[in-house]
Amino acid sequence: MSKFNEEVLSKYVSSINKFKFELEKPFIGRDEEALVMTLALMTSEHVVLVGEPGTAKSALARRAADLLRARFFKYLLTRYTEPDELLGSLDIFAFKEGKYVRITRNKLPEAEIAFLDEIFNASSAILNTLLTLLNERVIYDGYNEVNVPLWTLISASNNIPEEQEYQALYDRFLLRHFVKPVSEDKWLQLLDASWRIEVEGYRAPQPVLTIDDLKVLNSIVLRVDVSKLKHTLVKLYAIFEDQGVHLTDRRKGKAMKVIAAHALLNGRTTASEEDLVVLKYVAPSTRDEAERVHVILLEEIGTRERLLSDLREIEDNVREVKALLIKTSDFDPRLVEYLRGLEKAREKVRKIAETITDDSVRKKSQDILSEINEVIDEIRKRLLL
Ligand SMILES: Nc1ncnc2c1ncn2[C@@H]1O[C@H](COP(=O)(O)OP(=O)(O)OP(=O)(O)O)[C@@H](O)[C@H]1O
Ligand SMILES: [Mg+2]
Repeated sequence: MSKFNEEVLSKYVSSINKFKFELEKPFIGRDEEALVMTLALMTSEHVVLVGEPGTAKSALARRAADLLRARFFKYLLTRYTEPDELLGSLDIFAFKEGKYVRITRNKLPEAEIAFLDEIFNASSAILNTLLTLLNERVIYDGYNEVNVPLWTLISASNNIPEEQEYQALYDRFLLRHFVKPVSEDKWLQLLDASWRIEVEGYRAPQPVLTIDDLKVLNSIVLRVDVSKLKHTLVKLYAIFEDQGVHLTDRRKGKAMKVIAAHALLNGRTTASEEDLVVLKYVAPSTRDEAERVHVILLEEIGTRERLLSDLREIEDNVREVKALLIKTSDFDPRLVEYLRGLEKAREKVRKIAETITDDSVRKKSQDILSEINEVIDEIRKRLLL
């Protein structure tokens, strides 16, 4: 670790963690979304959130902008959006003198962080500009070649693009995440969070990072040691390919940066197997592929430890309910809620028990399964079901 100044390192690690923490704070169940956005910012890559309407995609992007001290540009694209709306309009006075100049103030060419909502609505004129902008940080405009300071583009969309012409644009989002609606066990919390937001509004937070901080973080990311993982990575790519998940060559290479960023976010300067989880956000192109990659990663990396820790958590919860049942012998309205939770947990444990090949994990999941069944039976009895 001698090549890193410990003090500097821990300062940056803690501020990027603070950013992530603040980003997800007002939302329910949006920790993965905050993670992908944070990884994109640490690596100066672009990120797109794909998901159904009303899942806080735009709200997250706006909050990320509030938390960064950076020049920001945001725009909602429709099929009718003209290049000028993003790039600034032509300076007519200059044009009269034969010069091709745009008035770019507060527009995309000057932005360090940009949020383009519904980006796959882009018309073909905009699409072409975006392709070089995202890859080379250059805008070819008229006769000019303009370098732009864009660090990260955040985007959101309801769907992934199917048309061939959008594939090159889609590939430029190294990080892609498929947002799911909040799961049923968190609906109560969702109601509270929504109510809070309605009453108090979003309190614009104080910025916690600057663009310069991100540049330093990125330079540290590039010094993280990922060498030990290369063989595993190549093996995983082969498995992905086998299962119909194809990564372009661009993504195969760039994934290492994201792996390194994940290590750094967790305070490590050497990447380890657990950092390969970020492939979930780099490898898949569709929601279906995302599920497949998730399963492959579960099977291939650190499965045992993670499953055991999941199981232990479930076990603790089951025992808590059990203790409660012993304390009170009457009907308690909370039992309905517990029953639901336990049934969900049972599904999860069952799946683990059925699919895992590791003996100790299977044994543990079977034990927990019978414990859950016991508690469920008892609750059903009390609820007269
Ligand atoms: N997980 C959540 N936690 C807290 N509030 C949420 C959550 N999901 C949605 N909301 C509330 O719903 C509002 C709508 O979210 P937002 O407009 O960001 O959705 P969106 O995903 O961008 O939708 P669209 O695809 O229609 O643009 C948010 O501002 C927030 O108040
Ligand atoms: Mg939106």
